[in-house]
Amino acid sequence: MSTVDEIKARIDIVDLVSEAGVKLRHAGKNYTGFCPFHENKHTPAFVVWPESGTWRCFGQCNEGGDIFKFVMKREGIDFKEALAKLADRAGVKLDSFVAEKPEIKEAHEHLRELLEAATFYYRAHLLNNHDVLTYLREKRKLTDATIEIFGLGYAPHGYDNLLKHFSSKGYTEQDLIDAGMLSVREADDSRNTQHATRSYDRFRNRILIPIRDENGKMAGFGARMVDPNDMPKFLNSPETPIFSKGRILYGLDRARKPIRAADQAVIVEGYLDVIALHQAGYENVVSPMGTALTEDQLRLLKRTTRRIVLALDPDAAGQKAVLRGLDAARSAMDRQGELGFDARGLLRNEARLQADLRVASIPDDLDPDEIVARDKEEWQRLIENAKPIVTHVMESLAAGQNLHDAKVKNEIAAQVLPLIEDLPSPLERDTYRQALARMLRVDERSFAGSQVSAAPPRRKPRRTDQRQPVEKNQVAALNPTLKMEAYCVGVLFRKPALLYRLDRTLQEFGLSALAEADFEYTDHQLLFGIIRLAVEQDEKDYQHYVLSHLPETVSEVSKSFLTQAENFEHEEGKVFEELVSFIIDLRRMNAMTNTIHLRFLLEEEQEGANKKIYQEQVLQVAKLIHSLDQAKKKLSSKRQS
Ligand code: CTP
Ligand code: MN
Repeated sequence: MSTVDEIKARIDIVDLVSEAGVKLRHAGKNYTGFCPFHENKHTPAFVVWPESGTWRCFGQCNEGGDIFKFVMKREGIDFKEALAKLADRAGVKLDSFVAEKPEIKEAHEHLRELLEAATFYYRAHLLNNHDVLTYLREKRKLTDATIEIFGLGYAPHGYDNLLKHFSSKGYTEQDLIDAGMLSVREADDSRNTQHATRSYDRFRNRILIPIRDENGKMAGFGARMVDPNDMPKFLNSPETPIFSKGRILYGLDRARKPIRAADQAVIVEGYLDVIALHQAGYENVVSPMGTALTEDQLRLLKRTTRRIVLALDPDAAGQKAVLRGLDAARSAMDRQGELGFDARGLLRNEARLQADLRVASIPDDLDPDEIVARDKEEWQRLIENAKPIVTHVMESLAAGQNLHDAKVKNEIAAQVLPLIEDLPSPLERDTYRQALARMLRVDERSFAGSQVSAAPPRRKPRRTDQRQPVEKNQVAALNPTLKMEAYCVGVLFRKPALLYRLDRTLQEFGLSALAEADFEYTDHQLLFGIIRLAVEQDEKDYQHYVLSHLPETVSEVSKSFLTQAENFEHEEGKVFEELVSFIIDLRRMNAMTNTIHLRFLLEEEQEGANKKIYQEQVLQVAKLIHSLDQAKKKLSSKRQS
């Protein structure tokens, strides 16, 4: 979910509008009041729909929108400012919005160059270090080609190597700190020793593994100890402006093409496992970097494939973590050095991202690199045997247990059933319930009535003071308009050229061209505005124009469109049909609510100037609905022919 959606989900429009001094009165599912944007003491022409989080003035303004539009209009500010205000109110952080300004971009480039130069520096030290080279070649069975391809290096002993080396090359101490290669001494230390350096080499006597982003740009380093007494075993770059562990998958730059080719990605736990598997010819493999798998990381993969296999280590950090996640608090998963393969979180991500997540378990206490070392084909078999998450959880819980014991059965069912009940697909729920019953040798009906099925429904966050995390798909699930709008904007964002065709088709149906006003949500309006401009200019290709004109504030929204819109790729004809049909539906839904409210307003308004306006509007809306219905008919007869 984008930050914008999260803000929408957390702020109750009724609160927001009331606080702006508009007295709202309950009217059915909605609220009405006097429009704060125009003078009128007689009719409450201002309507608020709490469910969709939108408002509309049926009077003089004849305008409407979402919470952002309301604040923009009310305070005369732009989207970006409104966003900042409402984010603050909702308690949503906007950091990820801070776009790369040109000078910041340049600074980042500078850091990447420095890191790139550092790979050469570390590499030269590796080639001079016989012991470490021997370790990599003989103990880890890495070929020289592999060592070169993955750019492995060695950071020597000592505390000031980097500063010495790089200050002669035009880099400052601060650059090295910013790039995460120098650590900074405690403040009072440097006060005492004025001339001593403020900083020292972060990586000493370690094997260095360059970490690149999905485009192959340097981002940071992972560093494995050489001396077994050194702690921790792995030391990574700290979070820097260009290195964020939760947003990068190790090996993805090299794995992307193979993932596409295999239509499958495999996630393992360690750097050296990724490297060993690539060397063995399994190149569709990536790993996180000692932290819980994040939604961002899954999204990254999802751009290339929806089929993802988690190959977990057999130790506590791997398979057991799946089970631990069943009842452990979410925050506990972020601990360093262990993966948060928690089943519930994964299942939610799977559903939300429409991914196919499976778990492969690795036998005999071996790491993936050890598996391929003993038998290359074995790896392939393990991956082919990967199980859906629920099945994996079921089987892991049952392993080694006495399944004749009723208490054991009960325990297992109590852990697995909530996962099953959470699945969005009824078909899957049924299938897994049956499988669980079979495994436990009980009648499926015995699950009914357990405390599991009586789980309280998920609550919809409304009040702004609620700071609990919002279910990410909640907004979309609650609100069909939002979903349809997002779909339409998403399709056009990916294929702006379709807009011409769309306008032509609408015209054939006697309908007006698609306009910003067709969208209720401000971010959708903004994006659509850019798409419209893109097809009207002819200097650049559409996509390029759109991307270069995106206001920074909606770039995150559009990023989510890029990932969500993947299945649009398939059949353009079908996608287009759906687009037309959705636009018609959107307009019709809109028209219907408008009619209801105009009727309501007409009843309230005994006489006066507004009455005429409303009557006129009712007529127009009725005409519109008629044309929309005609259009829908033509569309379906077209489809049949
Ligand atoms: N990791 C980390 N910090 C740690 C421990 C582990 O970031 N203190 C991450 C690293 O990405 C590491 C992965 O978790 O590659 C798995 O850790 P582990 O299983 O301990 O190491 P291996 O990759 O198996 O390394 P080796 O085979 O060399 O022991
Ligand atoms: Mn290992």
